Amino acid sequence: MARWLLTQVIVTLVWLLLVIRRSLTNEILGLKIPPEPVLNANTVCLTVPGLTRRQMEVCMRHPDVAASAIQGIQIAIHECQYQFQDHRWNCSSLETKNKIPYDSAVFSRGFRESAFAYAIAAAGVVHAVSNACSMGKLKSCGCDEKRRGDEEAFRVKLHRLQLEAMNRGKGMVHGVMEHLPADPPGPQDSWEWGGCSPDVEYGERFSKEFLDSRELFRDIHARMRLHNNRVGRQVVTDNMKRKCKCHGTSGSCQLKTCWQVTPEFRVIGSLLKDRFYGATLIKPHNRNTGQLEQAPAPFRRRASINDLVYFEKSPDFCEQELNTDSAGTQGRICNKTSPGLDNCESLCCGRGHNILRQTRSERCNCKFHWCCYVVCEECRITEWVSVCK
Ligand SMILES: *[C@@H]1O[C@H](CO)[C@@H](O)[C@H](O)[C@H]1NC(C)=O
Ligand SMILES: *[C@@H]1O[C@H](CO)[C@@H](O)[C@H](O)[C@H]1NC(C)=O
Repeated sequence: MARWLLTQVIVTLVWLLLVIRRSLTNEILGLKIPPEPVLNANTVCLTVPGLTRRQMEVCMRHPDVAASAIQGIQIAIHECQYQFQDHRWNCSSLETKNKIPYDSAVFSRGFRESAFAYAIAAAGVVHAVSNACSMGKLKSCGCDEKRRGDEEAFRVKLHRLQLEAMNRGKGMVHGVMEHLPADPPGPQDSWEWGGCSPDVEYGERFSKEFLDSRELFRDIHARMRLHNNRVGRQVVTDNMKRKCKCHGTSGSCQLKTCWQVTPEFRVIGSLLKDRFYGATLIKPHNRNTGQLEQAPAPFRRRASINDLVYFEKSPDFCEQELNTDSAGTQGRICNKTSPGLDNCESLCCGRGHNILRQTRSERCNCKFHWCCYVVCEECRITEWVSVCK
């Protein structure tokens, strides 16, 4: 009897401990994560404001893919904010809760900044959708079939290696090698496809279908957007990497299987930022030929199809101006000694700055959760700062 009671007490205690530990961990992490949502036309398409009629049609057909596309746009806007944190226009105007951000002024203009915003959003959609495909989150896509190995043949080879290793009294070791260029197997280094590569072609097609369908005309605006969307998508597909796993006795790599991975989104952001600086000004003629013509000298450079293009000179973004999405730089933190764009002289547009002791809270350590929200921590920072007048 006493023993039975003791067992019961222990069982109850263990159970209690587990429950407490679970709620404690969640509390310590500060996570309030709801269960995975149901993604259907009602929960996705009808709750996201800002979709055009044609986007709505695409969304109704594939609500789960559209949801991950929208999350891709959010990730892209966050990356835009990171890439432009030192600029007078710092991309914060594109931040929209769950709304599609295309209504903001920068998206409706033809600035260099607009070109970047279109490209990174299109890249975000390819990235998010193809990764969701490979995670098995979407009904209409999965792993890239062209990069699928012969699983049965692989198992047979692995089994043979295991037997050999056992005979020699050694164990099998599996190691992961990171980020090689995503070439197909060559004769010199022998490896085969294995595992799940994200279906970037599906992601690319969906990005095209979902974003390019916003353009109903072929005027300069539309042509610029379509071009920059394509550049953004291509930065993802051109920079796929290969990850490999070695199987064999320790130190050996007798069997190598590889799969593709998308580049880190930070890499995509940096590559597009370079294209932002090298963007080409095109003629604002509305010739409706579907061709993009470069501006006359002195603007003419050799434009390549990989360049971002724009047709409107950017404002200086110094003062608040709603029709250009300019918040002005008053109140922005600058750096007196920086040689970069965040130098006080440049960021404050010559208006001067004050030195203040400031406590501010910043979003930090943001995590993107499937699907479709962002959880950030709040970091409080107290410091002396220079602030634009
Ligand atoms: C971006 O600019 C806005 C408006 O000037 C400002 O409120 C915000 O704090 C800035 N964001 C960052 C990350 O500097
Ligand atoms: C200001 O810029 C300088 C030079 O780039 C850098 O070393 C310093 O850390 C910056 N200060 C702040 C507060 O960001």
